Amino acid sequence: MTDNKNLWGGRFTGSGDETFVEFNNSFKFDKRLFEADLRASVAHCEGLFQAGILTRPESERIKTGLWTILKRSDFDKKYFNDSNSEDVHSFIESRLIQLIGDTGRKLHTGRSRNDQVATAFRLWLREEIIEISKITRELQKSLLDAAENQKEAVLPGYTHLQRAQPILWAHWCLAYFEMFARDRERLDEVWRRVNVLPLGSAALAGTSYEIDREEVAKELGFEGVTSNSLDAVSDRDFAIEFVGTCALVMVHLSRFAEDLILYASSEFQFVELSDAVSTGSSIMPQKKNPDALELIRGKAGRVFGHQTALLSMMKGLPLAYNKDMQEDKEAVFDTVDTVKISLQVAAIVMKNLRLREENTLKAATKGYLNATELADYLVQKNVPFRTAHDVVGKTVLYAISVGKELDELSLEEIRKFSKDIDETVFAALSLEQTLASKNQIGGTSPERVFEALETAREQINIEE
Ligand code: ARG
Repeated sequence: MTDNKNLWGGRFTGSGDETFVEFNNSFKFDKRLFEADLRASVAHCEGLFQAGILTRPESERIKTGLWTILKRSDFDKKYFNDSNSEDVHSFIESRLIQLIGDTGRKLHTGRSRNDQVATAFRLWLREEIIEISKITRELQKSLLDAAENQKEAVLPGYTHLQRAQPILWAHWCLAYFEMFARDRERLDEVWRRVNVLPLGSAALAGTSYEIDREEVAKELGFEGVTSNSLDAVSDRDFAIEFVGTCALVMVHLSRFAEDLILYASSEFQFVELSDAVSTGSSIMPQKKNPDALELIRGKAGRVFGHQTALLSMMKGLPLAYNKDMQEDKEAVFDTVDTVKISLQVAAIVMKNLRLREENTLKAATKGYLNATELADYLVQKNVPFRTAHDVVGKTVLYAISVGKELDELSLEEIRKFSKDIDETVFAALSLEQTLASKNQIGGTSPERVFEALETAREQINIEE
């Protein structure tokens, strides 16, 4: 209890119940904010000096003390273990006082743990967002590599998990590339809102010391300062929108995983997963399980859970700070860890993946994936699309009954359904033509896809 007494002991005569102290303690997890809190403390100390509250020697002693604590934590792995501090903020303050004596007791002038925690949390998250964006970019690169490696490969596209129309493999890769590009845009936007300094809001009402908040913000690389102290100490929107953004990353990762799990099954046999990301069965020797992808899919739920936890935790809180808000840390920490590792594993899967082009080609040319093409052919012959749709439906029904694909029917057989059809129909029904005709922006024609691939490659290289 000694550390706590240092912080708020004056008002208290009794000591805390052991179970409650353990319950209240956040140091076991918020020590992750250690370095961020130290950096913010150094900037606050400089602000106090500039405001004439600390003398130069005092502020120098405090800063040296803070850097000493940081160095100590680097080489002394047990440094954090032998503490009974309530949280990371009280830990640093008590260590500072231990180290430099009474001058250390001046550091908390003009601030509260309420603006302190908001500051450290933002500072920490700011770096993590950049890191997550970088890892997402690596995954995007692996998608581009996979697309370029098997550039001409064809895949059946699905709706309702029924074969629909043929697409290029590269088109599939680029679809996920786009999703992750939007995720990174969202991360950028969240970053901008995270990158604002709450310090100087003190407990809730603002500080009574003439600390130049803009200067402190500059020192810490924040783009600005928060405009309302009450809001600044009780706002966790930034954490919620960060987790929300990560929830979307996980949705995209999970769909990516699901696609590949299906494609790796014996039923599809579209992709070969590397041994590096698969496991075997302890009983069935033939099994090769897509555990990496299943875990990615499964872990999405954790992040959705964290988002719900944060929203529920905040919704009923009166202004301003409430201890409930201490619950924000583990949700955000676990979100960061989960998203990072899932993105990394997804990139490894992608780097080691081989598309079984022979099989995907077969699948893309079986199952009437060119039926829409026949309808479009009739439209060109001036048949209204709805009529053409009906004609082709009947043709497909007939083709199924004789066990043939559309392009395996003879001209006489097809002409039974429409006299507008002539021998040019076979060129129109070919796989090449089916693909080439999807030639508008965003379509799967090789011309468009190769163009999109180049643009994507340029985009990703510019960021280097
Ligand atoms: N550890 C707290 C948190 O993470 C910050 C301290 C604020 N505590 C307080 N009693 N005002 O939210």
